[in-house]
Amino acid sequence: MKTLELLMILVHVFLNVSPNRLQFFIRESLSLICVENGRLVEGWTVMKHGGGHNLCRPGLRDFGTMNGSSVFLSDLGDKDTSFYWCEDKDGQMSEYTTIRIEDHAILDIPALPVLTGSDLTLRCKMRNGSTIPAFFYINGSLSAAEPKEEFKISNVQKSDEGAYSCTLVTYGRSPMSFLRVRDPPSAAPPPPPPPLQLQVSLNVTPNLQQFFGRGPAVSVSCLKDGKTVEGWTVKRTIENKTLACGAYCSMSERFIGSACVLNTYMIFTGVYWCESRTGLKSDQATITITGGDLILEIPALPVLTGSDVTLRCRNRNGETVSAYFFKNNL
Ligand SMILES: *[C@@H]1O[C@H](CO)[C@@H](O)[C@H](O)[C@H]1NC(C)=O
Ligand SMILES: *[C@@H]1O[C@H](CO)[C@@H](O)[C@H](O)[C@H]1NC(C)=O
Ligand SMILES: *[C@@H]1O[C@H](CO)[C@@H](O)[C@H](O)[C@H]1NC(C)=O
Ligand SMILES: *[C@@H]1O[C@H](CO)[C@@H](O)[C@H](O)[C@H]1NC(C)=O
Repeated sequence: MKTLELLMILVHVFLNVSPNRLQFFIRESLSLICVENGRLVEGWTVMKHGGGHNLCRPGLRDFGTMNGSSVFLSDLGDKDTSFYWCEDKDGQMSEYTTIRIEDHAILDIPALPVLTGSDLTLRCKMRNGSTIPAFFYINGSLSAAEPKEEFKISNVQKSDEGAYSCTLVTYGRSPMSFLRVRDPPSAAPPPPPPPLQLQVSLNVTPNLQQFFGRGPAVSVSCLKDGKTVEGWTVKRTIENKTLACGAYCSMSERFIGSACVLNTYMIFTGVYWCESRTGLKSDQATITITGGDLILEIPALPVLTGSDVTLRCRNRNGETVSAYFFKNNL
């Protein structure tokens, strides 16, 4: 029951952008709020990815001002082109919403997912708000040979999802944005439980359990057949606290691209694993960032039966050193 609830929350909380679009002109303003079924949802915070960090405190740095529960971004500029999402204290996250700020032409494309079966009209806008005939592109291909005032999609379906952009002849091209489509909340039966996906495995790079502080980057990701998998998250427990990787401005790691990158400027031990939305778990790995003088080189991931493995003791200069090795304290 617990995992089902989790799934429902993940599916239904969205970042609401007002006005409801993904592209804005420089110096416009917008506001962001976390909603569930169109209503403000308590306990969720608007987050922004910026300058390689997850910014979790609206009102600070380049992250707008708070107005009640909403985040108000005014005088939009390049610094605001980023992805934004909603997150609760347990590290549950909504989908990402990528907002783009542009100078010449924008595509008026909704930020919230469009409901299947509805009609949608996309327009290409100039800075002064005028719409003139434009070329519309879907997934990088021109949709029609002649420029049009607007691009209509009636009876929107999941297959209409894709990357959209437009070009105003002589005024420039809009950024590309992704159209999302979802079923109306009540119309669709709950999704069937996904098939067991236990082939998903935890990947640790480099494949070791112990690292010196201030050393090179250590990253953890979830892979299936060598590729990242949607719906699986790296989770970790540090000092009895379990969170999704990078959640809620965790200091010990951040989520970059599809990998969880550990902050090797901190000293800690964490247990890492991959977890699906329905609660399936991969093998786990214990990773320690140490402030000490020696590390044992030992793989983080399970070693295959029948293979050979060599353990080494290494110092801060990267040299292997002669040492006594202990197994089960002997
Ligand atoms: C703050 O929110 C209130 C109502 O939610 C709205 O009327 C007001 O315009 C907002 N202020 C700004 C600066 O967006
Ligand atoms: C916007 O600019 C275009 C081109 O300069 C012009 O044709 C159009 O009339 C303008 N629209 C408004 C509302 O000023
Ligand atoms: C755009 O490409 C995606 C991924 O290949 C595909 O699922 C989608 O249906 C395409 N959209 C359109 C409108 O062709
Ligand atoms: C973690 O939990 C265990 C058992 O509840 C407790 O003994 C230990 O002190 C806790 N550790 C920290 C760092 O809170």
